[in-house]
Amino acid sequence: MKTLLLNPGPVTLSERVRQSLLQPDLCHRESDFYDLQDEARTRLLDAYKLDPQKWAATLMTASGTGAVESMIASLVPADGRLLVVQNGVYGERIANIAKQYGIEYLALAHDWMSAPDLAAVARCLDTEGPFSHVAVVHHETTTGRLNDLHGIGALCALHGVQLLVDAVSSFGAETIDFDAANIAAVAATANKCLHGVPGASLVIATHGAIERAASRTYYLDLGRLARMQAARNTPFTPSVHAYYALVEALREFEDEGGVPARHARYAALAEQVRSGLAARGIASILPPEHSSVVLRAYELPRGVAYEPLHDALKAHGFVIYAGQGDLSKQLFRISTMGALTAADIERLLQAFDVLTQ
Ligand SMILES: Cc1ncc(COP(=O)(O)O)c(C=O)c1O
Repeated sequence: MKTLLLNPGPVTLSERVRQSLLQPDLCHRESDFYDLQDEARTRLLDAYKLDPQKWAATLMTASGTGAVESMIASLVPADGRLLVVQNGVYGERIANIAKQYGIEYLALAHDWMSAPDLAAVARCLDTEGPFSHVAVVHHETTTGRLNDLHGIGALCALHGVQLLVDAVSSFGAETIDFDAANIAAVAATANKCLHGVPGASLVIATHGAIERAASRTYYLDLGRLARMQAARNTPFTPSVHAYYALVEALREFEDEGGVPARHARYAALAEQVRSGLAARGIASILPPEHSSVVLRAYELPRGVAYEPLHDALKAHGFVIYAGQGDLSKQLFRISTMGALTAADIERLLQAFDVLTQ
C-alpha cells in the first residue's frame, strides 16, 4: 500500500516529478546546471505573471525556513525596524529570526486562533513607528488560516513601509497580488504547493530590494545569491536533484493550468475533506472562508487523542499532522497538497468511518 502524505509538506510526489530525480548526474559548474537554474527562476516569476523588469526569483538550498531567514536577515537594513504580525508558530518564527540577528523588531502577537487585527496593525504603524518593514505569514499553517495580505499590504502602502511575506505554504495555490500589496519580497519553498522535493527554496523580491540588501548571514545572503544567479553562477553547491524536481514540478504546474487550477483542485479536495468529516461529527476549527485551500485544522473527536488517530490512519496509508504547541491536544491537520485525488480522499473518509464506528 502506498502511503499518502496529508502533512503540510513534503508532499506525495507525482510520478513525473519522482522520475525527474533520476536524471543524469550534473556538475553545478556546467552550463546545463545554469540552464536548469534559469528555467526554475523564469518559471517561478511566470507562476504569478511577474514582470522580470521588476522582480527576480532567487533559489537557495534550504527548507522554507531558510528562505524566510534569508529574506529577513538580508532585506531589513541595519537601521531598519521590523513589525512582525504574528498569529501562529510561523509568525513567531519570523520574530525569533529577527531576534537571532539582532534586528530591531516589534511583535504584534495575536492569539493563534485569531486573524490579524488590521486596526491594531494600523495603530502600531501610526504610534510605534517608524518601521521600515512589516513581516507576515500568508497562510499560517498552525491553524490553516489565510491571513489578509491585501489588507496588511494596503496599510503598508499607506505608511510607506515594505512588506515581507512568508508564503512558504501558499505559494502556487493562493492568490498573491504582488503589485497591489506593497510587497518587497516573498519567501517560498519547492516542496509544498509547487509539488517538488525538499531542499530547494526561494525568495522572489523586487530588484530594488535586492540592490539594497545587506545580509547579516553568509550562506543565505540574498543579494549575493541573486547577483550570482542573474550572472548564471552560484556561490555554493546547490541541491542539484531538488532543482531537477523543482523544474519538472513547475513544468507540470504550468501544464495543469498554474495557480488558478491548483487553487481549484485543492479547494475541491479540502471541501471534500471538510464536508466528509463534518458528516462524521468532526468539525473544522475555522470556517472555509477564513481558511486556506492548502490545509485545514479539525477538532479531535471527543475522547480521541492525536497519536492513536495518527497511527490508525497511518495503518490505512494516510499520514495526518498534529496540532502545534497548546493546540496539539485540541486539533489535527489535513493538507490536500500533492498528487492526491478525490478517490484518495474518499478512502481517507472511509478510514475515519472504521475508526469512529
Ligand atoms: C508558513 C510556513 N512557514 C515556514 C515553514 C517552515 O518550512 P520548513 O519546514 O520547510 O523549513 C512552514 C512549514 O510548514 C510553513 O508552513
